Amino acid sequence: MPVMNYRKGTEKEKSWIIEETSFNEKYTGKCESVFTQGNGYLGLRNSLEEQYLNTVRGMFITGTFNKASKDEVTELPNVSDIVNMEIELNGERFSMNENNIKEYSRTLNLYTGETCRNVLWKGKNGDIVHLSFHRFVSYENVHVIGAYVEIKPVNCEMKVKVVSGIDAQVTNHGAQHLTEFSKRAFEEKFLQMGMVTTESAVSIAVSTVHKVFQSGKYTEDAASKIIDDRRKIHAEIQLVIPQGETARVEKISTVHSSRDLEYVASGKEPEGENVCRDGLDNLKEAEEKGYETLLEESKKVWEKIWKKQDIQIDSKEDDAQIAVRFALYHLQIMVRREDNRVGIGAKALSGEGYKGHSFWDTETFIFPYFQMAEPETARTLLEFRYKGLYGARKKAIENGYKGAMYPWEAAWVSDGEVTPYVTGVNVHTGEPMICLTGVIEQHITSDIIFALWQYYAATDDQDFMDRYGYEMTIETARFWNSRLEWIEENNRYEIRDVIGPDEYKEHVDNNAYTNYMAHENMRLAAQVIACIRDEKKDIYGKMQKLMQEEGTSLEQLEEELKDKMKKLYLPQPDEKTGIIPQFDGYFDLKEIDLSVYKNASVVGTVFHDYSGEDVQGMQAGKQADIVELLYQMEDITTPDNKAKNYVYYEARTLHDSSLSKAIHSITACDLGMEKEAYDMFMSAALTDLGQEMKSSDAGIHSANMGGVWQDVVMGFGGIRIRDGHLRIAPNCPKQWEKFTYPLYWKGNELHITVCKDGVEVINEGEDFEAEIMGQTVTVSKGKNEFRA
Ligand code: BGC
Repeated sequence: MPVMNYRKGTEKEKSWIIEETSFNEKYTGKCESVFTQGNGYLGLRNSLEEQYLNTVRGMFITGTFNKASKDEVTELPNVSDIVNMEIELNGERFSMNENNIKEYSRTLNLYTGETCRNVLWKGKNGDIVHLSFHRFVSYENVHVIGAYVEIKPVNCEMKVKVVSGIDAQVTNHGAQHLTEFSKRAFEEKFLQMGMVTTESAVSIAVSTVHKVFQSGKYTEDAASKIIDDRRKIHAEIQLVIPQGETARVEKISTVHSSRDLEYVASGKEPEGENVCRDGLDNLKEAEEKGYETLLEESKKVWEKIWKKQDIQIDSKEDDAQIAVRFALYHLQIMVRREDNRVGIGAKALSGEGYKGHSFWDTETFIFPYFQMAEPETARTLLEFRYKGLYGARKKAIENGYKGAMYPWEAAWVSDGEVTPYVTGVNVHTGEPMICLTGVIEQHITSDIIFALWQYYAATDDQDFMDRYGYEMTIETARFWNSRLEWIEENNRYEIRDVIGPDEYKEHVDNNAYTNYMAHENMRLAAQVIACIRDEKKDIYGKMQKLMQEEGTSLEQLEEELKDKMKKLYLPQPDEKTGIIPQFDGYFDLKEIDLSVYKNASVVGTVFHDYSGEDVQGMQAGKQADIVELLYQMEDITTPDNKAKNYVYYEARTLHDSSLSKAIHSITACDLGMEKEAYDMFMSAALTDLGQEMKSSDAGIHSANMGGVWQDVVMGFGGIRIRDGHLRIAPNCPKQWEKFTYPLYWKGNELHITVCKDGVEVINEGEDFEAEIMGQTVTVSKGKNEFRA
């Protein structure tokens, strides 16, 4: 079994380098996802150059969504395979197995973004050769991918054949998104394929070139032959390498699409041939620079990122440091920070899982990182949701509501809901399998608004609110206003028939999380209407016009919101136990012993023994639900009740979603449950990095990357935004001596160090007031120390 290792090497390498120390063909998916490289524009799975049975090669360009057929939903196409290199060594195809590799190591360097594989291979005829593969995706020129292999025969002279190029036979598990419109070999070496998506008509150009070096010298004529095949174009390179000498085949590629940001200014998407021309020009420049120079340029960007974003943990005990950097690495490659037309996928750009769609994962789990560490990027993400108002309005109308009802799954800004309603077929009965989340998992609408107001509190970005934020708040509240149901016999408004965060429970009434979050959305909107009426007449006028077009007015909306808010049912803690029911009738559900499923190393084992219907009738949850609510809205009950609810619901939570443990850990931190908080943290941090070899095949767990960041900063760091103020109530884990993280608070750059007996805040900005360890204090410009 391959082992993920992040401890080898020098002190510095220990905390930056992740290594796979052995190879097993069965588990190629693990490193393909975990070692994904990218820059937010492009994501490249770290598939190996030579082909293996279970490999899922993947390259994704943000925003290039397409529908493969009319019955399928929009998804992010798997563009083509650019990493392939089939190598023949003295007539034998290079392929690794347990018997022929004498040495093996494969690493991802989080600091530079480069991957490296070193193999000492022995062929059937006894020939021994050392191969060293390197690859990176540039963060400087986001279209560029650099790769090379170095081949060094150890005990013989070696005849080598390398077949390498562009393979566009790739599909999304069989769904064909692209057709070819051009294929060329320019100057007998610049290979290019022009493709266009079948429905959305996005043009994509993938281009590649090889450079061959023998004993360090560039050999012009080595790329001897072009092989043209259906949906493929390759170069065949033949070499003879003397014993002990090294030959190197460099492969530089570029990827461009007609949806690229560079084209937006011109107002219209370019023709495919222009995209191809730009791809070729870029390739020629990149080829000239070569791998090392391109890598250096990209490394400089990464260096800047780490200088700003690194979290340093002083601990000798465990793998926390590298796990946190791993989360930061993926957070950095999942977002296209300048492009407000694209969101973040649940698997980011690391795999086909969840079809590249954005969920509440973005706002509730990932967004807090950007809001506090990179506020400009947070704004871009919110602007994406503003653009998404178009689709959200469309969804509201389709479902018979008013205002804006955000899609549970979002793709391109104008798509609206893209959750697949039918996810497959029950092969035993022929019945379609229905997914209801796109219809009744509705809390995402208020999750977006909650995030938006947290952002406003953290940044004071009034410009955002004026342009977008107020409108989003009002439009979403209009949705809830039309969604609430008056239940005569209970004399109150209710929200019936939803799915809450716990997706194991469908068609529930009054999911506490949904009701409280909707209430907050409505409260904020009522506050906005009052504020813009007095202070922002132009915005008031714009919104009033919109209301009037629909035969209503802001005054009427305000009145209705105030009335309905008062009468909306907010589930209260049980008088005796203090427990808030997750939804109506929760306490009547059957209780069973969940320990065997909770302790299982893979998720979903409860379904080995029970049907979906059985689980629906049990007190067994998929993920944080009430615990998520109490994290976001701690004031809805007493600290004592919060503790009781945590204990009650944790026992009933299977953590079958990666959106669960980090949130539990933060709550455990708040409650002073040190050991539980730390165990949950490490378990969340190792979701992708741990030894479970199959769980990341479809891509990494993006939400959990944000969850891990929140766990460090909000949990152990004790950061919270309360009533517009910053609160720091740190809980340094006993395994750590101290830890330091960067943060922006209302434009002030802060560097916060939490140690055993207090906090140090270096404030690069202006003085401000905060609540630190229970005291209201002034955080002055410069260094501030607060001791317990
Ligand atoms: C979780 C959702 C999540 C989705 C995408 C599901 O398994 O239950 O909460 O949004 O995955 O990550």
